Amino acid sequence: MDWSNKVVLVTGASSGIGRGLAVELARRGASVGLLARRRDLLEAAVDEINEAGGSALALPADVTHADQVRAAACELRRKFGYIDVLVANAGVGGTTYAVDLCEKEVTKVIRVNVIGAVNSVTAVIPHMVQRGSGHLVAISSLAGYRGLPKSAAYCASKAGVSALFESLRIDLAHTGVDVSIIHPGFIKTPLTAGRKHMPYLMELDDAVAKMMRVIEKRKKTYSFPWQLAMIVRACMFLPIPLYDWIAERNSFRE
Ligand SMILES: NC(=O)c1ccc[n+]([C@@H]2O[C@H](COP(=O)([O-])OP(=O)(O)OC[C@H]3O[C@@H](n4cnc5c(N)ncnc54)[C@H](OP(=O)(O)O)[C@@H]3O)[C@@H](O)[C@H]2O)c1
Repeated sequence: MDWSNKVVLVTGASSGIGRGLAVELARRGASVGLLARRRDLLEAAVDEINEAGGSALALPADVTHADQVRAAACELRRKFGYIDVLVANAGVGGTTYAVDLCEKEVTKVIRVNVIGAVNSVTAVIPHMVQRGSGHLVAISSLAGYRGLPKSAAYCASKAGVSALFESLRIDLAHTGVDVSIIHPGFIKTPLTAGRKHMPYLMELDDAVAKMMRVIEKRKKTYSFPWQLAMIVRACMFLPIPLYDWIAERNSFRE
């Protein structure tokens, strides 16, 4: 795929998956806008990209603030003319046992993971539809398929992200705007640092390579690694008592 005339907005680009994707997209020739809150990390990533001969712009913003995301998207369009691809990746984790569940923490996870994705999409969709071309990429999670132990807020947020982008995919059919929903398993990033029991944990570079293939092929949905994706999908068809029994004892538990 020729990325040389493509402009990509990546949210959550100051670390982990977002940073990895932004650097790889720029290496392949795309102009990239890197959006996140930590300006210093964004600027360091932009310097790295520019020094390697790429083209990038740091866009410090908080995805929970629609006006900030809109302003960042405008700035990127002002610099490069348009936005071809949005990678809605910004997200936070959370592992809370049911009796410790606190509305403040749940609200934060939902606001960043779901409302943040909504704010990112609304900042780019009208222009994409007007141009008759565009690509929305959601970084959801295998955790969005079914509820996992000690992950109520995170699972709910990722189920929300997947359903949100699925609806968008149907609504945007025939507009020229494609939608891809990526469901990764465990990947080595700051978000998973310190966690125990992560079956089929992947290196960041391997995960980025897989996600790049999905983005380039404009696949509608992709879940990986295949071993964990197969287990999670099989769990969708288990009777509830059996699923609960397995989930309670399985290795996802901290
Ligand atoms: N790692 C995994 O195993 C895994 C598996 C499945 C799905 N995912 C998903 O992949 C995405 C990236 O995760 P990661 O593992 O790369 O985690 P990470 O290294 O912690 O990166 C999270 C990114 O999101 C940004 N972010 C958080 N809150 C934000 C806000 N309010 N506004 C703007 N940016 C915000 C952070 O930047 P600032 O703090 O600078 O704002 C950071 O760049 C998340 O959506 C996560 O749920 C990860």
